Amino acid sequence: MKMLVTGGLGFIGSNFILHVLNNYENYEIVNVDDELTGSNHRNLYEIEKSSNYNFVKGNINNHTLMNKLIADCDAVVNFAAESHVDRSIENARPFIDSNFLGVFTILEILRKYKKRLVHISTDEVFGSLEHDSADESFRLNPSSPYSATKASAELLINSYVVTHGIDAVITRCTNNYGPRQFPEKLIPKAILFAGKNKKIPIQNHGKGVRDWIFVEDHCSAILNVLEKGESGESYNISAHNEFDVLTVIGKILSIMNKPSDLYEFVQDRPGHDYRYSLDSSKIRSKLKWSPKVNFEDGVKNTVEWYIKNNNWFDN
Ligand SMILES: NC(=O)c1ccc[n+]([C@@H]2O[C@H](COP(=O)([O-])OP(=O)(O)OC[C@H]3O[C@@H](n4cnc5c(N)ncnc54)[C@H](O)[C@@H]3O)[C@@H](O)[C@H]2O)c1
Repeated sequence: MKMLVTGGLGFIGSNFILHVLNNYENYEIVNVDDELTGSNHRNLYEIEKSSNYNFVKGNINNHTLMNKLIADCDAVVNFAAESHVDRSIENARPFIDSNFLGVFTILEILRKYKKRLVHISTDEVFGSLEHDSADESFRLNPSSPYSATKASAELLINSYVVTHGIDAVITRCTNNYGPRQFPEKLIPKAILFAGKNKKIPIQNHGKGVRDWIFVEDHCSAILNVLEKGESGESYNISAHNEFDVLTVIGKILSIMNKPSDLYEFVQDRPGHDYRYSLDSSKIRSKLKWSPKVNFEDGVKNTVEWYIKNNNWFDN
């Protein structure tokens, strides 16, 4: 199968490409990425010369380019997105361009070619939850411009499935951690700061609760959905590791043998969601997927990767 991956120079996209090409022989991947925030060519240096991998620099809003690439592939996996909530609060325009209009461009082309689309969405579309976990039928209630563009894209995709009969599945995942994540995000930022003995900046007094999943587990779930998911359906992906930010920082500092108070509280973002949580029983029962990496091992592996690949941060 020839897969078109969008945004494959970013954190999850690059891990997904490595997961597929390092474990399965029957896939060829074309990666289209516009080298925007979060992208890094070094993420894929180990496979960039492989015969079953090709990189194309380009924007998913470029209709002519995307038409050519989609015509020539069997399926599209769409990771391309502006992904950092804080930046969406400063300027939402690039988020609307990539996360909503980019999806619109892909959908219009898919009306013609009828290839499968797997669209990567997020638990943030459900907004902040108190005690419950959102299943697939939970009400979309995004709080940030980032999550609003992701929820809008989901609605547009569903409308194209119903109205135009396109073949599309949506995955929604919780907070990913692991190698190759741009250090504006919490875990790599914490490792970078701690490594330099600098205090780690923490918003919301570290009370925000996130459900953490090792990126490779997310990747295996996406491949599962590509192969076995039902068109028009969405699948929640989570590993049931709910921890507040302060607990996660404490684990990282302990693994790195740093003082347990090497952090400082900074101003909170407006509209900060307190807690996200997903019920992932549908993908576990219907597609027989389950996560493999427990949180303790995953965080330890992650810290070790960033320490070993210290010069990756310079890029
Ligand atoms: N990081 C998480 O914890 C998480 C959780 C759930 C869902 N997601 C979703 O997963 C996807 C990937 O997230 P990530 O953390 O890897 O993001 P990232 O910021 O690390 O990477 C995004 C990539 O997309 C590319 N890109 C952005 N807009 C583009 C455009 N218009 N055309 C071409 N390329 C473009 C960037 O250059 C970058 O390489 C996103 O859709 C995000 O919403 C992320």
